[in-house]
Amino acid sequence: MKIIMLGAPGAGKGTQAEKICDRYQIPHISTGDIFRANIKNGTELGKKAKQYMDQGALVPDELTCDLVVDRISQPDCAGGYVLDGFPRTIPQAEALDKALKARGEKVDFAIDVEVPDENIVKRMSGRRACLNCGATYHLMYKPPKKEGICDNCGSELVLRDDDRPETVQKRLEVYHAQTQPLIDYYEKAGIMHSVDGTQDIDKVFADITAILE
Ligand code: AP5
Ligand code: MG
Repeated sequence: MKIIMLGAPGAGKGTQAEKICDRYQIPHISTGDIFRANIKNGTELGKKAKQYMDQGALVPDELTCDLVVDRISQPDCAGGYVLDGFPRTIPQAEALDKALKARGEKVDFAIDVEVPDENIVKRMSGRRACLNCGATYHLMYKPPKKEGICDNCGSELVLRDDDRPETVQKRLEVYHAQTQPLIDYYEKAGIMHSVDGTQDIDKVFADITAILE
């Protein structure tokens, strides 16, 4: 099963991707997490990506597409995967389609987690992220068992650099201009589904599993 998660920044793509991957035992591939891990480790890719991410802008397609195509070619992806935060532009969607087509494969589901912009800024200020394993928490809606510590790996939880309100606003603008057109793209491909992301986390997940099953 190959699944793409669409949705505005903070809509809950990562939260739901984690749950899907747990249930179906497939890898969770988040380009945002990959870039953040590279920033943390001080790699060349991380240095380049950080300049864009801190502005709320997209990392250029040429730094992103090959990375994902390479990742989905790994053996652990043979049984499917969830792509979270990729594709984010039409050229990225086309690059993915091209790579899959070359192997006689295709995306099975594109799922849009719908949350209005006015809910997003509020949500982001309460988010805490693990930069080690990519797990996401919320002070109110999904608190970790021990304050400030990741349940999965025991690392320290942080407020992401790009979660300041002014950067969130910019990310929302970028989302509407560059990523929302993908909804049309996957509608045309006949694989587009939407869920109401303002419901509580488990209800959103129940709606997603109903689509997948
Ligand atoms: P990325 O890391 O993908 O960030 P994003 O798309 O902005 O999305 P977020 O991770 O902020 O939100 P989410 O939808 O995963 O929500 P979450 O589950 O955390 O990308 C960051 C940056 O990297 C980009 O801006 C760009 O620069 C770059 N980048 C990444 N991919 C790229 C690409 N393909 N091309 C170019 N550049 C790329 O939930 C948010 C919060 O809400 C959490 O605290 C969560 O606990 C809580 N929550 C979730 N669901 C609910 C609910 N139902 N009710 C209440 N609270 C909830
Ligand atoms: Mg995320």
